[in-house]
Amino acid sequence: MSELSAFRGKIVHCLRDPGVASDSGAVEYFSDGLLLVRNGHVAEVGPAAKLLQNLSEDCSITDCKQSWILPGFIDCHVHYPQLDIIASYGERLLDWLNTYTYPAEAHFGDAAYAHETAEFFLDELLRNGTTSAMVFATVHPESVDAIFASAQRRHMRLWSGKVLMDRHCPDSLQDNPVTGYDDSLALLERWHGQDRLQYAITPRFAPTSSHQQLTAAGRLADKHPDVYIHSHLAESQAEVAWVAELFPDQVSYVGVYEHYGLLRERSIYAHCLHLEDTGVNAMAASGAAMAFCPSSNLFLGSGLFDLERAAAAGARVGLGTDVGGGTSLNMLRTIGDAYKALQLRGQPLSAIRALYLATLGAAEALYADDKLGNFQRGKEADFVVLNTQNRPLVNRRLTRADNLSEALFALMILGDDRLVRQTYVLGEPALPLPA
Ligand code: GUN
Ligand code: ZN
Repeated sequence: MSELSAFRGKIVHCLRDPGVASDSGAVEYFSDGLLLVRNGHVAEVGPAAKLLQNLSEDCSITDCKQSWILPGFIDCHVHYPQLDIIASYGERLLDWLNTYTYPAEAHFGDAAYAHETAEFFLDELLRNGTTSAMVFATVHPESVDAIFASAQRRHMRLWSGKVLMDRHCPDSLQDNPVTGYDDSLALLERWHGQDRLQYAITPRFAPTSSHQQLTAAGRLADKHPDVYIHSHLAESQAEVAWVAELFPDQVSYVGVYEHYGLLRERSIYAHCLHLEDTGVNAMAASGAAMAFCPSSNLFLGSGLFDLERAAAAGARVGLGTDVGGGTSLNMLRTIGDAYKALQLRGQPLSAIRALYLATLGAAEALYADDKLGNFQRGKEADFVVLNTQNRPLVNRRLTRADNLSEALFALMILGDDRLVRQTYVLGEPALPLPA
């Protein structure tokens, strides 16, 4: 029987979707709580006063009493090869791709370059309290091997896949329907289900894949229903108009993915800004998920996500940073951007719902809520410890908060990576201990 370890602090997690009305029963909070971990999984969570009574004397207790303990953040959409072009100035989506993104991605056929970036990227995720992510690689198989190998070394739960793109991008970045299929299949067979790694079939977006390539992607998805699908959808108006030109026989952008068998459970689409109601309903009905990426949507001037419409349709939604279109890997900053973007739509985001979108909701979007997203017994013990002691303003604001919602809201709006004291993956510290 392996050892039990205990973590004592202000513990908060979501039990279900709080919805628009912000159902207060959707969240559980222990102002002095104890999280018990055995074998990398949650053994129990509850009030410290109660759980300490039955705890054996030799159980190690990590004292985080001044800190908050939250489930690890889950980033539903991020590009690791775009780290080096984060914060690139002045373009809208399609020009930004041509000017910055494609040239940056061209380096990732070099395994050593991909490895170095993957290592840096995952260390940054962990430094920000993000323990899991759905990650775009590049068209090069080397880029996928690099991110999976680095995630495996860190014992992280992570999704990735080779980007499929065989047109409307630089020749040097193009695959073709046959190599795209074969390389994806080989990577899927190598990595899917290894430890905590999951493969995602990844057509970049409809404009950069031919009819033949989308057909092949659909065939692969059909043969491997347990594998994921990851792409972009309706991010900018110009992109939507381009898709209508390229696929005149399809009724809509969502219809394109649906036609090729790419709209189903375990498919996740970034952005979903410029959709018809029928598209949103089709996504919800199929079990596909939306990655809401507010930082990127504001930075690239793409548009404002309609969370209420997605929720009313019953669509799965998780938060994504979309770095390099997004400007931070930090989920607290992303929540801050989500709040502000939704304010512009008259849809203020409650603190509890924001927590949900970054943890349990994201896990549901990724069909991983049986393993991740909260501290239910048996789930994987990925969590983050946030400490405000060295942040005078945050600390001062929190001492003036009257209730959990108010405190959590201020924590999220004012917080960033400086709050992260430690990130735990399967119950083990993931960051070097502070000197
Ligand atoms: N659409 C197609 N490719 C991309 C990408 O790399 N980033 C974003 N934000 N949108 C895309
Ligand atoms: Zn993206």
